[in-house]
Amino acid sequence: MRFDIISANPKILESSLNNGLISRARNKNLAEIYLHDLRDYSEGRYKQIDDEPYGGGSGMILKPEPFFKCIERLLSERQYDEILHFTPQGKEYNQKRANDFSLLKNFILICGHYRGIDERVTEKFVTQEISIGNYVLSCGDIAALVFIDSVVRLLPGTLHDAESALSDSFQVETGFDYPQYTRPETISGMKVPDILLSGDHKKIGEWRKQKALEKYKRIKDN
Ligand code: ADE
Repeated sequence: MRFDIISANPKILESSLNNGLISRARNKNLAEIYLHDLRDYSEGRYKQIDDEPYGGGSGMILKPEPFFKCIERLLSERQYDEILHFTPQGKEYNQKRANDFSLLKNFILICGHYRGIDERVTEKFVTQEISIGNYVLSCGDIAALVFIDSVVRLLPGTLHDAESALSDSFQVETGFDYPQYTRPETISGMKVPDILLSGDHKKIGEWRKQKALEKYKRIKDN
């Protein structure tokens, strides 16, 4: 899988792409990730990447030319399955979409900034606009990281335990996880439920299902 990320502030991404799960996937050659700094594609002495909006209004808009230059270069080199723009106005991201995206190969990820990007970039290149939730972030880079992490962890070989992505809370019926415990058996007078110490795996399975359902009902009913 390959991600080409176009960003106005690639420093935001660097440490997360070079640590933890994403870095492990890169080292195992499961994911190739390339960062493209919008400034490297801008013209002129001042490397300006943003400008005032036509028609007035507050904030600055990311200029179209650096995006056009960068995306046209990438498209001349290979085919892309999706060109995604992260914006709060996009389709809401969820586990089902992550599963579907994890089956594809090449992505261009466009990270907006300030008040947004010139609409002609979207018109010309973007295949889908994606929102990671109903709130506004300072930049799309954070959303791109969420996207990459959620997709890369589904690639066979990224996680240590091949089973674990399939048993994730969002992959099971209720969408909720059951409560988990580890040693010590007692802390601050609170004991691990006896059933988990019973060794009866059938009963443990039923108990976990029941607890996940209870949590689902409690949270959804509020
Ligand atoms: N950029 C700013 N807010 C965002 C959001 N909620 N989702 C995706 N990209 C964004």
